[in-house]
Amino acid sequence: MTLEELKEEYATKNPSSKKAFDNACSDIPGGITANVKFFAPFPLFMKEGHGAWLTDLDDHKYVDYVLSYGPLILGHERKEVLDSIQDYFAKHGTMLYGTPHELEDIFAKKIKKHFPSIEMLRYTNSGTEATLLCIRTAFAYTGKYKLAKFEGHYHGGYNEVLVSVNPDVSKAGDPTHPTPLPESKGISDRMLDDTIVLPFNDLEACTEILTKHQDEVAAIIMEPLFSGTIPATKEFMTGIRALTKKLGILMIMDEVKTGFRITLGGAQQYYDVKPDLTALGKVIGAGFPVGIVGGRKDIMSMAAPQGSDILDNSNTRSAADILYHSGTYNGHPMILNAGLTTIGILEHEFDGLLKRTERLKNGIRDIYAAHGIHILTPGLGSMFNIAVTELSDIKTYRDLQKSDFALRKKLDYALLLEGIYNKPCNRYNMCTAHTDEVIDFTLEAYEKAFKRI
Ligand SMILES: Cc1ncc(COP(=O)(O)O)c(C=O)c1O
Repeated sequence: MTLEELKEEYATKNPSSKKAFDNACSDIPGGITANVKFFAPFPLFMKEGHGAWLTDLDDHKYVDYVLSYGPLILGHERKEVLDSIQDYFAKHGTMLYGTPHELEDIFAKKIKKHFPSIEMLRYTNSGTEATLLCIRTAFAYTGKYKLAKFEGHYHGGYNEVLVSVNPDVSKAGDPTHPTPLPESKGISDRMLDDTIVLPFNDLEACTEILTKHQDEVAAIIMEPLFSGTIPATKEFMTGIRALTKKLGILMIMDEVKTGFRITLGGAQQYYDVKPDLTALGKVIGAGFPVGIVGGRKDIMSMAAPQGSDILDNSNTRSAADILYHSGTYNGHPMILNAGLTTIGILEHEFDGLLKRTERLKNGIRDIYAAHGIHILTPGLGSMFNIAVTELSDIKTYRDLQKSDFALRKKLDYALLLEGIYNKPCNRYNMCTAHTDEVIDFTLEAYEKAFKRI
């Protein structure tokens, strides 16, 4: 079958999603609430999630490998998490105190146990807010106002980081000195001037660029596992740590995807590297919105507001002396409680999750190989991707762009018809509910999907 035929069958098979999508398009731009959720001809609308499975409006069941782009590491409807939410309300009544509460520090101690680089932390409501606060914190601490980020890396949806996330390679210039390109309408040239784009896994080029800009660059921010799948080499990671220390540039590790997914201590445990600041999100919220900014005590302490209360005119410090951080929902008690339950379960179930991830990766590689196709399955821990490529290794955004996306896309549409849910060409996120039986089902679906194409 051709891609067009696969899409036609998909459209015919999913009339209820099509109708819901058409309805949504009249009220919501593009019919979706996050641009990443769209794929042609229309995305599936889901109505139920249980364990590893999603059910769409037309009652088709799918093994879910998106898991809401990462957070649902225990799958859908994990009983202990649901019970902990109900128990919390039964015992405490309210949704929100609007005051400090003890779970904030209990959760902080749990995070600090797994992430020793985090000496102090603050809560946010998303990964986006967490990386945003990391960047302001770095500007505040260093008195410098440029950010360095890597080509292809995603850190959320705001101006400083919506630069060169999925750049058109033909416009992105020299791979060793990438040209900053806007990722959205509305990104000013000033933003492109203030964001320096670095080549991932190229220490020599990074050393040259950062040395040249050391007096302007406050921090580098990185996804240790680029796009949730392409790892930094160990030499690159330790080299970047040493270089940033030497140049007086802070190192921000964005572990929104990788936190509790590569190891329980994230990428920093895997690489044995201590960043100055870390952003967390996704898994720690058990499927609810949350983020954390954590790091060195001397840096994080700048947020302590003592002596600068906006409602008290006897202040000894002005607002500009303090690192601003606030938010109505920060440290949401129900979310921290659900997150604490999730981490507690992961402490026992993480090894099994990793084993089954390897099993699925190997199984998919074998099936492609049986059809004479060479693929790589880059990734670490419980995340991986599938790159149809002749390369023996993928280290950068530009390497990844050399993959055969057309074949992968066709197979992914065929897999949707066989009950495997992933956005075409997206990475695989695994959860504890992906049992051996679910993996068997997936591999059988792969065989059937190959027959279709
Ligand atoms: C590495 C990374 N940083 C930041 C974010 C933004 O997190 P959120 O979607 O919770 O705002 C994401 C989301 O995918 C991410 O993968």
